[in-house]
Amino acid sequence: MLIYPNYQKRRHAVSTITEPDHRACFRSLTDEVRIDSLPVTGEIPAWLSGELIRNGPAQYEVGSRSLNHWFDGHAMLHRFGFANGVISYANRFLDTRARRAALDEGEVRLTEFATDPCRSIFGRVQTAFSPQFTDNANVNLVRLGDKCLALTETPMPVVFDPETLATLGMEKSPGHHVTAHPHADPRSGEMISYAVHFGRRTTYRLHASRDGHTYRTIAKIGVREPGYMHSFALTEHYAILAEHPLLVNPLRLALGNQSFIENYRWHADRPTRLIVIDRHTGTLCGTFEAEPCFAFHHVNAFEDGPELVVDACVYDDDEIIRSTYLDRLRTEDPRIPRGTLRRWRVHLQVGSVRSEHLADTPLELPRVNYRRVNTRPYRYTWGTSISPQGRFLDRIAKVDVVDGTTTIWEQPACFPGEPVFVAAPDAREEDDGLVLTVALDAKHGTSFLAVLDGRTLRELARASVPHHIPAGLHGQFLGTRS
Ligand SMILES: [Fe+2]
Repeated sequence: MLIYPNYQKRRHAVSTITEPDHRACFRSLTDEVRIDSLPVTGEIPAWLSGELIRNGPAQYEVGSRSLNHWFDGHAMLHRFGFANGVISYANRFLDTRARRAALDEGEVRLTEFATDPCRSIFGRVQTAFSPQFTDNANVNLVRLGDKCLALTETPMPVVFDPETLATLGMEKSPGHHVTAHPHADPRSGEMISYAVHFGRRTTYRLHASRDGHTYRTIAKIGVREPGYMHSFALTEHYAILAEHPLLVNPLRLALGNQSFIENYRWHADRPTRLIVIDRHTGTLCGTFEAEPCFAFHHVNAFEDGPELVVDACVYDDDEIIRSTYLDRLRTEDPRIPRGTLRRWRVHLQVGSVRSEHLADTPLELPRVNYRRVNTRPYRYTWGTSISPQGRFLDRIAKVDVVDGTTTIWEQPACFPGEPVFVAAPDAREEDDGLVLTVALDAKHGTSFLAVLDGRTLRELARASVPHHIPAGLHGQFLGTRS
């Protein structure tokens, strides 16, 4: 085992949470290790070859203060390598300006999602619309061409080496608030993403890029009070922005005295606006009104005759953001709202929106067989879920969106993260393959990678990691079958 220089360990005390429950998911991890072969029980399918790289917050202390929110912790990458039935593991912090300031000065220098660096008023005006956002890219990652990019919601993707997890540099993408969930265009191979450009005339913009360095603008849509959006939907011909009524006055963002998300206001009396853009011409096809609700994650979207079908994991309101502050998550019962699967059928000619409830199972961090069904009709999604008595995401659920049936995998006192689907070679069915999830075993204070059958969620194998891995956000399998 190779231990990387772990200079931060001497400087910051880690959280002292020791309860064998969901609170272990929010205890900082500072150790960086590289292990050639993890202990494995069960059998890993011989065809599984490649690497699962996961991203997420890992350290929540800066100097003597704690960051405020789950989404604020310093980005750490975790790499599970699969070769010849052996699973290797490594983890490493991204070497960002945000983290360097924390380590060297003990200060929060850049605005995080829900933690504010407490600038002076002058500094606030100066930096609100300029690129002084955090580069703490702890949300997601993509491989684009020969580059791997770690992403958050600021326009500064961090380039890293997928073998060593070393930070290689930073790119600059257009806009001010961007999505960490770009789509791959299945035809062109381009990465499609959206951004909010704040300014005198604020706009939503749709962009395409082949290299994460140069961007082509597809569409610009003016908006007076933009919404907080975390992901978007893509079909063969359209991009759909679901603007939930969690809105910000751009001037408040520029001059306000709060962290990024705290500038947004919930408007229960306003609809969710489904903004449909022809992604080939950039034309605004229409804005269609649905019920007020909030979602972080779209599941999938496709065209069905004259209708657009748009599926998302939806909450009644924005309470999910408040419930994921660390001071709530570190309580015995953070009262996490349950998100459920909703389908919007948007009839482009008639202008109507029909909402359908797809399943009762709470679902978050949803994944699909992306290479096969992105922009196309589909049947299955895999996500994290909460048991009826659960306090945090404690299950993996597979939902059949056609008949609403659900399959569950769970283990006592274990908290699995986002399930990543890997298609089997020569797969015939959409769910022929594996589901990979990293779960925290709160009783033992360690984590493991579970390899599940994509059809049944039967556990096929488990690889043990010697430490706990805090609750992460998203990851990608970078083999040939992602
Ligand atoms: Fe996300």
